Amino acid sequence: MTPAATDVRPAILITGATGGVGMALCRHLNRRFRVIALGRDANALAELAASLPGVEVHCLDLAGGEIASDIASLMEQCGDVGYLINNAGFNRPAPVDADIEAVLRRSLEVNAIAPAMLMAAVLPGMRRRGFGRIVNITSGAPLNCFAGHAAYSASKAALNALTVTAAREHQDVDIKINLMSPGPVRSKMAPEAPMAPEVCLPTLDHLLDLPADGASGRFFWLGHEIPLTPSLDGIDWLAGTAPAGFARLWPEADESSGLDSNGADVSSSDRECR
Ligand SMILES: NC(=O)c1ccc[n+]([C@@H]2O[C@H](COP(=O)([O-])OP(=O)(O)OC[C@H]3O[C@@H](n4cnc5c(N)ncnc54)[C@H](OP(=O)(O)O)[C@@H]3O)[C@@H](O)[C@H]2O)c1
Repeated sequence: MTPAATDVRPAILITGATGGVGMALCRHLNRRFRVIALGRDANALAELAASLPGVEVHCLDLAGGEIASDIASLMEQCGDVGYLINNAGFNRPAPVDADIEAVLRRSLEVNAIAPAMLMAAVLPGMRRRGFGRIVNITSGAPLNCFAGHAAYSASKAALNALTVTAAREHQDVDIKINLMSPGPVRSKMAPEAPMAPEVCLPTLDHLLDLPADGASGRFFWLGHEIPLTPSLDGIDWLAGTAPAGFARLWPEADESSGLDSNGADVSSSDRECR
């Protein structure tokens, strides 16, 4: 009999379970969930399983060529999954003008494509059951764009866009899909960071326990909501117009006089060419 058949706790799938944040998540969530922990290092997974009885471990390389069939076979073994945390991450510095291609491809695979495929694997079941909570672990990097980390920032920006879009596609059902950055926490990726991974747990609990009218498609960090975009209120994308608060590259034409604010004639047909 599979663990799924005997364990009545809700199932939560956690990637990157052998990392700093992932292990903290598994330890914390093992109390109330059937934790399905994913990693790519079989020895580290065996240690995790030994230290946390009840946690199910699965070895799967999120950047591997077999990712689609690996996820399909994982889903067959898991049963219903109501909660997903896309936590695995890859961060290797690479300047844009040197060796970016391989690092960017791998960053996209681990940080964006695999999370998207896992969302695609669990969302149909969540929709059928009318409930789901997904937390995609992002970073401040796509907002800060630190020099030297373009591949990481770009891949997390892709994850951000995937998350917001998926949330909008599931507005009609009690499925909440949000982003969370754990904070500057010590892990293999960030050994010198000032905080322990556990600092992210209250924010994570909040996102897993959101009510039906709770947030979706938003970004949270250490108890704060971080805006993903500046306010876009008033922009008419089809008309090509934006309110006065948006800086302009050149003065707006004065339609009544036919002159722009520099006095140039914009009444003739050459206005069409601007
Ligand atoms: N630490 C921070 O300050 C910080 C800040 C902002 C965001 N984050 C994000 O937090 C998340 C967790 O990172 P962390 O700090 O805990 O770093 P970590 O200790 O390096 O953990 C990363 C995890 O991702 C796994 N992983 C990497 N590539 C993989 C692949 N190809 N297939 C499967 N698993 C793979 C790693 O597996 P292995 O154990 O086999 O390497 C590890 O379990 C990441 O998404 C990261 O971007 C961290």
